[in-house]
Amino acid sequence: MIDGKKTMLSGMQSTGMITLGNYLGALKNWVNLNDEEDIKCFYGIMDLHSITVRQNPAEFRKNARTLLLLYIAAGLDPEKNCIFYQSHVPAHSELGWILDCYTYMGEMNRMTQFKDKAAKHADNINTGLFTYPVLMAADILLYQADLVPVGKDQMQHLEITRDIANRFNGIYGDVFTIPEAYIGKSGAKIMSLQDPTKKMSKSDENPNASIYLLDDKDTIMRKFKRAVTDSDNCIAYSEDKPGIKNLIDIYCAVTKKTPDEAVKDFTGLGYGQLKEIVGEAVAEELAPLYRRYDELLKDKEYVDRAIKNNAEQASYYANKTLRKVKKKIGFTEMPR
Ligand code: TYM
Repeated sequence: MIDGKKTMLSGMQSTGMITLGNYLGALKNWVNLNDEEDIKCFYGIMDLHSITVRQNPAEFRKNARTLLLLYIAAGLDPEKNCIFYQSHVPAHSELGWILDCYTYMGEMNRMTQFKDKAAKHADNINTGLFTYPVLMAADILLYQADLVPVGKDQMQHLEITRDIANRFNGIYGDVFTIPEAYIGKSGAKIMSLQDPTKKMSKSDENPNASIYLLDDKDTIMRKFKRAVTDSDNCIAYSEDKPGIKNLIDIYCAVTKKTPDEAVKDFTGLGYGQLKEIVGEAVAEELAPLYRRYDELLKDKEYVDRAIKNNAEQASYYANKTLRKVKKKIGFTEMPR
């Protein structure tokens, strides 16, 4: 809660181009929730999290800007939502350190994302990668978030955030709001188009595995056409048919239909037609986003102003919580 209003916070790492998984699992829900209720919303470009993997400086800067433009292009108005770069608000790093001291090694050792990333980047298993979820807890708790809309893969990080917050509140009284995860009805786990047992990921080496948000229509159609399915040629929504299930999930997330309704739409069709219909639906969904992104690219002044204003706003709220935390712990205030 902030100023008596329910609060929502979420964010994405600014590494590479975001995928249809990021969009359907998170960004689209942010926009939907935004229209629904009178909520105070914070959306971070989580660039501090991104450096747990080595980044090329020029690309890193460009990716962060692209991500910010995509948030706005998807429908998050920066005058109504606080969209900010995590690195512009030093309170994130500061609370991250403080919370490190209230988190146990054993808890971090259990994090599946750490295990996956450590296996993928065996040459750079840095301590930032290990304590990554604590920084994420700081992101959420600084804004007293009630609601955190994320994809399923972030559930474990939300649970540890709640554990850390409860532990801290148990020692010092009610300092942090205990956040709830918000997982959308569909699209919470979009799978790779090339291996539907693996989640769609922006770091996948095979570009055909993911739809990227700025892919043009031809590319989208081609990638769906190549999507891996099975050899039955029978459209059903079942765990035994992960490729088909994934296509139906994507279709449902875009059209807001249920899997039953979707399967009815596809009665009598073959896999080729299914892929085409899903591809068309996705291309249609992303087309306005692409146009708006292009306009924003030309409006540097508007975007820069939004970045500055929102960084100031985010800092105001984050510092308020941080001051409270430091006071509770017993840090000495700077004499005025
Ligand atoms: P990130 O950048 O990996 O992903 C951003 C959001 O996209 C969701 N997502 C997916 N949803 C459905 N299907 C997929 N294949 C898929 N891939 C990704 C993620 O669940 C996420 O919601 N640690 C976070 C970033 C973060 C954050 C935060 C999120 C940092 N601080 C505070 C919420 C609150 C991450 O790496 O997300």
